[in-house]
Amino acid sequence: MKFFVDTADVNEIRSLVETGLVDGVTTNPTLVAQTGRRFEEVIAEISDMVPGPVSAEVTATDLEGMLAEGRYLAKIASNIVIKVPLTFDGLKACSILTQEGTQVNVTLCFSAAQAILCAKAGATFVSPFLGRLDDIGETGMDLIHQIVEIYSNYKEFKTQILAASIRSPLHVVEAARLGADIVTIPPKVLRQLYLHPLTDKGISFFLADWEKTGQKILAR
Ligand code: E4P
Repeated sequence: MKFFVDTADVNEIRSLVETGLVDGVTTNPTLVAQTGRRFEEVIAEISDMVPGPVSAEVTATDLEGMLAEGRYLAKIASNIVIKVPLTFDGLKACSILTQEGTQVNVTLCFSAAQAILCAKAGATFVSPFLGRLDDIGETGMDLIHQIVEIYSNYKEFKTQILAASIRSPLHVVEAARLGADIVTIPPKVLRQLYLHPLTDKGISFFLADWEKTGQKILAR
């Protein structure tokens, strides 16, 4: 399973990349707006820091606009993935950009039917938004389950399932149990993943016992 970080904050990305846990980054217009910085500049900086895929989302809603923005953004770096919304024009843009050799992440997927279309359009990634489904009283994880099941029925479906809108460590664990290829995780949730009170308690006990020995590990 791959971990992407869901943020456009370069400082967060830098510190998380140092852990060796990060395989890629996803951004969206909201996340870029939060930085207060110029889009292309932020995307270029992130692509330099992360060897894996970096999703940059188009903001045009018509086919021509999406293609123009997608082609322009794809030139920023070789690891840029163009993110398009799951609309009729978005799927057409996905098909065309994919044929041109650009990787595409189809975003805002909320149903299995939509996910089938993404695979048919040749998307590299489909992003089902778990948290936003939970927010409206549905079970986001059911969608991951359905997509995993459907995609596994057809070996010609190469689209990777990128579980998005992750709100908690439980989302990450459940998506992993179901076989999502990737989870894109907000930095706060990524940091929560390693926390366990018994780990902290265990360290305190070990250190207390170690102190009693009076020993020191002579690292040189
Ligand atoms: C995915 O690529 C999106 O950027 C993201 O996961 C959206 O999450 P949110 O619902 O927490 O905004």
